[in-house]
Amino acid sequence: MAAQRLFRTLLSRSGTGPGPGPAGPRRASSSLPAPGTWSSRLSRLPHRDLYRLSVTDPDQFWGSAAADRLRWVEPFHRVRDCELRSGRISWFLGGKLNVSVNCLDVHVETHPDRVALIWERDEPGTEVKVTYRELLETTCRLANVLKSHGVQKGDRVAVYMPVSPLAVAAMLACARIGAVHTVVFAGFSSEALAGRIQDAQCKAVVTCNQGVRGGRLIDLKATVDAAVKSCPSVQHVFVSQRTENPTVMGQLDVPLEEVMSSQPPVCPPEPLDSEDLLFLLYTSGSTGKPKGIVHTQAGYLLYTSLTHQYVFDHRDGDVFGCVADVGWITGHSYVVYGPLCNGATTVLFESTPVYPDPGRYWETVQRLRISQFYGAPTALRLLLKYDDSWVKKYDRSSLRTLGSVGEPINHEAWHWFHSVVGDGRCPLVDTWWQTETGGVCIAPRPAEEGAPILPAMAMRPFFGIQPELLGEKGERLSGDDVSGALCIGQAWPGMARSIYGDHDRFVEAYFTAFPGYYCTGDGAHRSNHGFYQITGRIDDVINISGHRLGTAEIEDALDEHPAVPESAVIGFPHDIKGEVPFAFVVLKDGVSERGAVLQQLRELVSTKIAKYAVPEHFLVVRRLPKTRSGKIMRRILRKVATETTGDPGDVSTLDDPSVVKEIIDAHRRYTEQRAEKKK
Ligand code: PRX
Repeated sequence: MAAQRLFRTLLSRSGTGPGPGPAGPRRASSSLPAPGTWSSRLSRLPHRDLYRLSVTDPDQFWGSAAADRLRWVEPFHRVRDCELRSGRISWFLGGKLNVSVNCLDVHVETHPDRVALIWERDEPGTEVKVTYRELLETTCRLANVLKSHGVQKGDRVAVYMPVSPLAVAAMLACARIGAVHTVVFAGFSSEALAGRIQDAQCKAVVTCNQGVRGGRLIDLKATVDAAVKSCPSVQHVFVSQRTENPTVMGQLDVPLEEVMSSQPPVCPPEPLDSEDLLFLLYTSGSTGKPKGIVHTQAGYLLYTSLTHQYVFDHRDGDVFGCVADVGWITGHSYVVYGPLCNGATTVLFESTPVYPDPGRYWETVQRLRISQFYGAPTALRLLLKYDDSWVKKYDRSSLRTLGSVGEPINHEAWHWFHSVVGDGRCPLVDTWWQTETGGVCIAPRPAEEGAPILPAMAMRPFFGIQPELLGEKGERLSGDDVSGALCIGQAWPGMARSIYGDHDRFVEAYFTAFPGYYCTGDGAHRSNHGFYQITGRIDDVINISGHRLGTAEIEDALDEHPAVPESAVIGFPHDIKGEVPFAFVVLKDGVSERGAVLQQLRELVSTKIAKYAVPEHFLVVRRLPKTRSGKIMRRILRKVATETTGDPGDVSTLDDPSVVKEIIDAHRRYTEQRAEKKK
């Protein structure tokens, strides 16, 4: 309870109010949409008209939404300057604002005692509520701590913390002073953390002594200690006490609660350009090195606030329950920025869906009176295996909208979520989007007049999103009932601006395959009715329990083992996790201790990346299938691993097609051995 007590102590110190925010709302200049256009006219239009306007006149749509929905220090003079071919994307040019003011101060002015955060701690029934006034004060104290330790505008700060009010305050504190946060999921290993800190050249790290999850303690500080050894840019590590257990403090370490308590609860917000960096979030691509996706201030905030309101049908007084971790984009956009910008009460879920039992989510819904429940299909697939009584014994009448994110939701999970959890009365929105898109891009909007919601389908584009399906030669596939590469034909304010430190890689990864379009890396089908269904990745990225991972990252880790000259990893279907990594490894001649090597490989992936990345299957092969130019043909490996017919498909482009028979034989022996073991 130490953290709770300390947090309370901090909060109870009286503050002097919201602090000197920017001098009142100032609006965009008169050549732009007239002030009040959004509030008085556009927001009342039927969704169909709003959508049409958003794609035919983005300046009018986004300009009026930005002017009315955000508070500006300086009005913007131009709505956008975007050119997808070159990856040049700028929104609300000339405008200055502060994101933390929009998420905190504006609400403190009108309803300081409204609950901003409900921290659903791991221990059931010990939730902590934090009002907007308290969150502002905590954010300001933390911002002052950062400033007094030399963190300045533009500096990068790594946040390695589980979901907690202090993690949110750390993000907002960075936003307040113009520092750039990079939250690293607290399940990543020290090497993965170090790689991100080094790439971003972070000046400081904010962490906890320990994490608590499913009743287990996780030594986060030890992971940070190991990481910062190879990160000379780090000058301070701020350590919060989540548990009472003592922490060994080193030279860089600063006790966070202690230093916060001596700081004033007021911190003047830094006016920032619309296109100043707000945060970096590292994500996997099809090459080995994670990319630091860059999001900026105004466009991201506007897009998350608008999607949060429209996709989830959020209304005043709702309790918004997104159970994602803040270490992922879902946590950034729909635990923190979207809901707080809209003055919502947002839930921070620290625990797991099965702790202390499989009723945890629904008991939380009942206790906190949650209105929207937004989670990942992987958890639903796990929960639906238990008896429905785990759901039904709790009162879920507070629920109004259900949402799913991160991976395709299968029909069984969709129907269970809709009919058992939602009693068949709550719209269920399958939301498609990515770290790079900033917010939801394709999803039903429950409040849309007369629009159907079909099971397991992302359905319709959000305002401003123009999905296009492109064929293999880059041709635009028009009409309905077609499948192709999912691209987006027009810029939108929430989209990523760059890859940190490597704009060329940004252009190469997203704008080169189909010039003039943002290429998502996913495939999709457009139905006879013009609705979109995501069919999965078209590149070498897999999705494990909703967590995206490039197979190349796992291969890089495996190939570091001295006994492994090469490896190839593919995604293999799993009934709960969606996909798991399946590794084909070549071992050097003379390696006799195969079992020991495979165990070392598991450990290697766990320490280099994270536990969830460890392959569930290892198949030792003599050779990998390669084209004449030496490219590994993972398509063939996928076929061998997943097709029961044993048909590897077209092997004509292989350098030596006989390799396929070897792999099929090895795979057959592997499946027989597994079946034997199961007996
Ligand atoms: O393949 C798509 C899948 O998750 C990828 C994005 O992963 P990430 O950047 O980690 O963001 C996850 C949370 C937004 C996409 O390229 N994906 C996400 N949502 C869906 C999905 N696949 C199918 N249906 C979805 N609703």
